[in-house]
Amino acid sequence: MSTHPIAVFDSGLGGLTVLRALRDRLPHEDFFYFADTRFLPYGDRPETFLRERGVLIARALVERGAKALVIACNTATAAAAEAIRAAIELPVVALEPGVKPAVGLTKTGVIGVLATTRTLASERFQRLVGNHANGHRVIARPCPGLAEAIEAEGPDSAVVASLLDTFVTPLATAAADVVVLGCTHYPWVAEAIARRMPAGTVLLDTGEPVARQLERLLTAGGLLGGGHGHLTVATSGAPTAVSATVDRLFGQKLKIEHWEP
Ligand code: DGL
Repeated sequence: MSTHPIAVFDSGLGGLTVLRALRDRLPHEDFFYFADTRFLPYGDRPETFLRERGVLIARALVERGAKALVIACNTATAAAAEAIRAAIELPVVALEPGVKPAVGLTKTGVIGVLATTRTLASERFQRLVGNHANGHRVIARPCPGLAEAIEAEGPDSAVVASLLDTFVTPLATAAADVVVLGCTHYPWVAEAIARRMPAGTVLLDTGEPVARQLERLLTAGGLLGGGHGHLTVATSGAPTAVSATVDRLFGQKLKIEHWEP
């Protein structure tokens, strides 16, 4: 079993920011990355759809022989993590916006959270803020259109720049000194976000803590090791449509498969 790949999935290519951290920490593991591009954006879809789709993908990844699953998507986690955990027996690593670490870092007491509409509307996110905000002000800013624009137009496009002006500038005005990147697509535009905030603003993404958690679970389950550092990338959309973006974002030429869970 330990020779089997670790499955990672997202609505699209945002989860590659998580995958990068996973491969940095566990370079000898094999990974199967699935971008559910046909249904991007998850952020505007109903919770029931995301729950059913998440369980379907997780079951198909088990069938494919995965030894562990990383849900590299905040939106899918918010809607489907519990259902996925109940449906499969593999170790599952889910991620959530880094509100907890942000609370320990803020000096102004104002924390900005950028995420999808669905993530911020979820009960899971409301609970996270309710349990951990600890009297701090949390400005939760939905960013409709941003994940799609990053993929379709590119991180440096004029469309992305104008969306960031709309979503990020109010956080600077409100004196937020920590910005939580609560969607795995947003680390691709971290520099552009930082440029719109005062110097010294901390941007938090979840790649590294997720990698540590995955390592802990693999170790506890006796599943660590056995791979050769192989990476397979698959999409439910057209491989040709995402390959240029993958190469640009990931800085490496990768062969992309079509896969229908
Ligand atoms: N990358 C996903 C996340 O972390 C969402 C992007 C989308 O809306 O599909 O929330």
